[in-house]
Amino acid sequence: MSAEETTPSGVDLSDPKLTNEQILTEGLRRDDIEIVHYEPQFPVPGTKAERRLERVVAFLFLLAGLAALGFVAVYIWGPWNPDEYPLGASDYNYYTPALGALLGLALTGVGLGVLTYGKKLLPHEIAIQQRHDGPSSDEDRTIAVGTLGFIGNELGIQRRPLIKGALAVTGAGLGAAALAVPLGMLIKDPHKKNEHGLDPYTSTGFNPKYNDGNLVRLVREDYTPIRPEDVSIGGQITAFPGIPHGTSNQFADSPVLVIHLREDDAAELRGHLADYSANALASADDPNSGGMWENIVVYSKICTHAGCPASLYEQQTNKLLCPCHQSQFLITENARPVFGPATRRLPMLPVTVDEEGFLVAKRDFAVSVGPGYWERPNQ
Ligand code: FES
Repeated sequence: MSAEETTPSGVDLSDPKLTNEQILTEGLRRDDIEIVHYEPQFPVPGTKAERRLERVVAFLFLLAGLAALGFVAVYIWGPWNPDEYPLGASDYNYYTPALGALLGLALTGVGLGVLTYGKKLLPHEIAIQQRHDGPSSDEDRTIAVGTLGFIGNELGIQRRPLIKGALAVTGAGLGAAALAVPLGMLIKDPHKKNEHGLDPYTSTGFNPKYNDGNLVRLVREDYTPIRPEDVSIGGQITAFPGIPHGTSNQFADSPVLVIHLREDDAAELRGHLADYSANALASADDPNSGGMWENIVVYSKICTHAGCPASLYEQQTNKLLCPCHQSQFLITENARPVFGPATRRLPMLPVTVDEEGFLVAKRDFAVSVGPGYWERPNQ
């Protein structure tokens, strides 16, 4: 027995026969920890009261596990695809709330289970330790491992098979729930072309392919089409693509803001659009240039920072504010970001009027709307 292996108390930590409890006691002594109060909740194991509490804890863990497995089942087999459900179909409307409720129930079950276990089944203990500095020695680490082992024994999971089984269900359920979302994202190709031959990530509802090749009207939320004169000078309204489901979440990236600029402001914007180099635009046919109809200009409402709806329009300064992180876009300078975290202009939707005098999109946005992402094909 070397001097290093032997502690002043005579305990040899390299002795494989040492129990966790002996190691713990030695650790407490070395760490200047004094246990001033120790009281087991159930001095006699296996009483009726203890078994009743075990059943409560097991129920909570079981509930958590089953709710987590329910989350996985709904995530995989639930009505997640809006294309398969008509607008307003109740099944689809309940999909996200069901996921939230089940995950919430699972986490609540785990939380209550752990709390009940800790408060009602673990021994009551008060320990006082003096603080000391410096890195831990090898022996201290051995003590830490032994202490953890002791705590494991003290938890009493081994002698409570009901709770042990329930915890296994909880672990399986929560583990599956944690894996389901990332795996689900890997299984489905987000760029898979839809029935119109379009990548849903880089197209919006203003693409004429959604309208049998015809130009898409700009409509209000109730699908009534919009005339330029419906927007007062200096005012703005939100518009959606006038196609089936155009105002639903299926086309959540399509909303636009129709702005009717005053004469001077419109002239200033036209000047900016004509000056491509000043706008750092790529070319004369840059999709974010041109496309005004008289003094009407239309921009994507989806903030290029993180995708919030940017719709607070300051008429006097011609700035469009995003309420989420206060990005500001100067409309008279082609929606240039002038404040806040957004670094990209809002894409412009080129518009004209059809033969009945309603606003229509000349074509889809030629740049992707919303925040940047690494696969975006254009700027
Ligand atoms: S989402 Fe608009 S500023 Fe962040």
